[in-house]
Amino acid sequence: MLALNILLFFATFIGFCSCSKILFLSQLPTKSHYILASKLVKEMAKKGHEVTFITPYASTTQVKNINQIPLEGLQKIFSPETARVSISTTEDGTPMQKAMEINQMNYKLSEFLLSHDKVQNLLKSQQPFDVVILYYYFNDALLALAHHFKVPVVLFASMPLYVSESFLLSHPAPSSYVPNIILKHTGHMDFWQRLETSFYDTCMILYYQWAMLPKHHKLVENFIPGKSDLYKILNNESVILINSHVSVNEAVPMVPNAIEIGGFHIEDPKPLPNDLQKFLDDSPNGVIIFSMGSIIRSVNFPEEKRKACIDTFAKLKLNVLWKFEENIAGLPPNIKIMDWIPVSDVLAHPNVKAFITHGGLLSTMEGVYHGVPLVGIPITVDQKMNIALAASNEYGVEVSYKELTEETLSQALDAVLNNPKYKQNIQRRSKIIRDRPMKPIDEALYWIEYVIRHQGAPHLRYPGADLNWFQRNLIDVAAFVAFVALVPIFAAILILKRLTKNKIKHKKE
Ligand SMILES: *[C@@H]1O[C@H](CO)[C@@H](O)[C@H](O)[C@H]1NC(C)=O
Repeated sequence: MLALNILLFFATFIGFCSCSKILFLSQLPTKSHYILASKLVKEMAKKGHEVTFITPYASTTQVKNINQIPLEGLQKIFSPETARVSISTTEDGTPMQKAMEINQMNYKLSEFLLSHDKVQNLLKSQQPFDVVILYYYFNDALLALAHHFKVPVVLFASMPLYVSESFLLSHPAPSSYVPNIILKHTGHMDFWQRLETSFYDTCMILYYQWAMLPKHHKLVENFIPGKSDLYKILNNESVILINSHVSVNEAVPMVPNAIEIGGFHIEDPKPLPNDLQKFLDDSPNGVIIFSMGSIIRSVNFPEEKRKACIDTFAKLKLNVLWKFEENIAGLPPNIKIMDWIPVSDVLAHPNVKAFITHGGLLSTMEGVYHGVPLVGIPITVDQKMNIALAASNEYGVEVSYKELTEETLSQALDAVLNNPKYKQNIQRRSKIIRDRPMKPIDEALYWIEYVIRHQGAPHLRYPGADLNWFQRNLIDVAAFVAFVALVPIFAAILILKRLTKNKIKHKKE
């Protein structure tokens, strides 16, 4: 009996510890992307999986089960871009220019990653993996790693899909109601907005298909042993985890292997540093948090905009906590400056009344999660869309960066602080983002393990993914029907013409 028990114990133990080997590829050297990637990696390691983590950053602490392969050179490639994202220049440039820049930047990152010795050694090592997880961001060449290791691939998208990604993965994304995340429209568009979205959607898809994919194809040929053909590898992901949620982004049609895990990065509030805790506790009239995220630096605000902010805050009875990267002399006593703020933990404090943000997706989600109304000063990528959504759903107010003055900022703050609808709406959304069948991080892990258990998930692939875009949209059928319908009509017209000609001839005779 005892022996049986011991046997059972070991059986369950072995069954429980179904640890897998996971290769996680991440190329984007910005703080918010790293937060998302490392959160997934950490949680997988915690569950006992062995994760090989290709990353732009070297973490100083060794974590059990994580085999880091830091490629710090990635940061150097990105740095000209970071410099460019100094506030004064980002507003300029058409949506198409922005899309092209993002595409090209990520091509360079992919090229650096694939050609790197450490990655080449990994490719030659023929290590056994169970799954490859790719942080998917205009880096299609990296799909070839999964092909090389002959394992299923799980994609992770850090925001709702760009239109060229939806096109490549055959996700339904009609320009009529799925917004282009670089524009500033929500899904409810009037005629001109749909026209604009259709135009940019088409340009961005054509650009990626014709200018970028051939380059990625070349990368695969050059750097992956075995001369794989990228065009045969594309669009074969088992599952895609998308960092979006209906509480913050809009509902869009989801194919069966697309899973929304938006908000998974938000952790239970951690204790704050003493001075910060005291500052928040000692603000009986409330606190406003002001942070433009990790890439955009408030230091780069031109003098007149900085002054507009300070003058606005000086008039308030509330205190202001401002993420600002250097000291400002002669500040009013109600403004506290810190070069880094643990935004999500601070937002959890009951005295926080409003959040002035650049509208990045992570910040927006944190504001929604903690039910703090937003004042958005969007600058680039998806920020305009996020803030347009906040404004149209009345849980935030937009202040355009160009028109940022004491007057516009005061008006926006006055609205979110004094009109109760903003607080009510964002608290309703806070309930929605928390109301899930399971915690989004658990859901992410569930689907990764699901793909490992079933060695892929071809049964989740919908048949439309195997069609060309013109077949999927029935354009071939429409053309055929038009042809079949038009042939008899043309024939009838021709015959009629002949007959009437003949009649005229007869009459003349
Ligand atoms: C597509 O993925 C499955 C595993 O999920 C794999 O068996 C198959 O070989 C892949 N196809 C190509 C062309 O890579």
